[in-house]
Amino acid sequence: MHTILRQRIDSGSALVGVIGLGYVGLPLAHAMHAGGLRLLGFDIDPAKIEALARGTNYLRHLGDDLARTLAASDRFDATTDFARLAEPDAILVCLPTPLTEDRRPDISYVLRAGLDIGRALRPGQLVVLESTTYPGTTRHEFADAIAKAAAPGLELGRDYFLAFSPEREDPGRTTHSTRTIPKLVGGLDPTSTGLAAALYRRAIEHVVEVSSAEVAEAAKLLENIFRAVNIALVNEMKLSLEAMGIDVWEVIEAASTKPFGFMPFYPGPGLGGHCIPIDPFYLSWKAAQVGAPARFIELAGQINHAMPARVVDRTAEALALRGTPIDNARVLVLGLAYKPDIDDVRESPALEIIELFRQRGATVAYSDPHIPRTHPMRRYDLGMQSQPLTPENLKAHDAVVIVTHHRDFDYAMIAKHARLVVDTRNAMQSYATEMGARLVKA
Ligand SMILES: NC(=O)c1ccc[n+]([C@@H]2O[C@H](COP(=O)([O-])OP(=O)(O)OC[C@H]3O[C@@H](n4cnc5c(N)ncnc54)[C@H](O)[C@@H]3O)[C@@H](O)[C@H]2O)c1
Repeated sequence: MHTILRQRIDSGSALVGVIGLGYVGLPLAHAMHAGGLRLLGFDIDPAKIEALARGTNYLRHLGDDLARTLAASDRFDATTDFARLAEPDAILVCLPTPLTEDRRPDISYVLRAGLDIGRALRPGQLVVLESTTYPGTTRHEFADAIAKAAAPGLELGRDYFLAFSPEREDPGRTTHSTRTIPKLVGGLDPTSTGLAAALYRRAIEHVVEVSSAEVAEAAKLLENIFRAVNIALVNEMKLSLEAMGIDVWEVIEAASTKPFGFMPFYPGPGLGGHCIPIDPFYLSWKAAQVGAPARFIELAGQINHAMPARVVDRTAEALALRGTPIDNARVLVLGLAYKPDIDDVRESPALEIIELFRQRGATVAYSDPHIPRTHPMRRYDLGMQSQPLTPENLKAHDAVVIVTHHRDFDYAMIAKHARLVVDTRNAMQSYATEMGARLVKA
């Protein structure tokens, strides 16, 4: 079976299915299409499928060309009909892996996809899980879901093949693309690894084979834990240095002049996005299961989680010094997205910061050119609309809190007109002298 599949991959005639056309699945489908392959996208959201058929993009940071190219191509189709999962030679699963309310891994989307794939499974298919998850998911929970729904007699490693390949997408980053970010691949067996690696090599410049799915799963977690722990380190360092009257930003800049053995991480208002605040807990949960607690992860989580409240406290202190109690203050939050120049608000610390300001009695508005209004989310339903950033609006607020430093903000105008700026990103550094006591770093 694998020889025919390999021939289809190598000849470029293979049909690739992508389940989940979100932040990860859509650019991946586009990259595979650009590599000359035929693509069939699957999503449960009919609005996304309709948008793709029209050539309309629903993820702004990817640009309009992407959706237009796919819509115009006879090598691309997208559907909500999961019975069509029998068609692709290879199926890439790019579904959410969030945490439950009690911060445990929620792999229900992945398991549901496993059952969908199993029901349609035919000999000669390769399945690759891309969703971030704890080591062992591909071999155990995901493989079991496929096998449970599959027709009897289909054997893993003989009739169909299974691998894990973590997604390393970084929305908004312009220095790398799906094509240029090296791709790790680890199969449940060497045949699966080889098939998956051959497939990705058609579209991605550098594919790295590892010895197992578990190594690939754990490598992805290490990458994100590395970030979460180092961000927590500088967040804690910021508080210690602040108490000593030392500016952490200048310290990081100074330390960064060392040409080896140091890599800068920057403090901020708290973690955001689908990855860094969530993925580490996939490992710590599994580590606890096997009796080897991951203490760094838990500590980093505590420190990073405390940052939004810290920003609100710091703003309240600065306002009090100016004679405005927080419960009587008008606060303008700049940037709702969790990082610059994108429109993704998932887990954004801005949401918690706004909620905390409201709890303290402040009247809060926000301005974000990428997010015209808020929508109901699992935890937050803020019911807000973005305010235009104008001199009048800046003057009308007692404090302007920079949570996300979008490129589009006019920082010179902010420096000129804001009564007080609480800056969590060091975005106003060039205006520090001009602003004097009107600028507070948090
Ligand atoms: N967003 C990132 O920057 C990023 C980076 C690296 C890794 N990841 C990982 O990739 C995975 C996917 O994340 P994402 O950001 O692309 O999520 P996303 O929410 O943007 O996309 C998921 C898509 O799946 C669809 N969907 C939900 N349930 C479905 C189902 N049962 N069947 C078919 N489609 C379904 C949704 O409509 C959505 O379009 C996660 O594990 C995440 O941790 C994300």
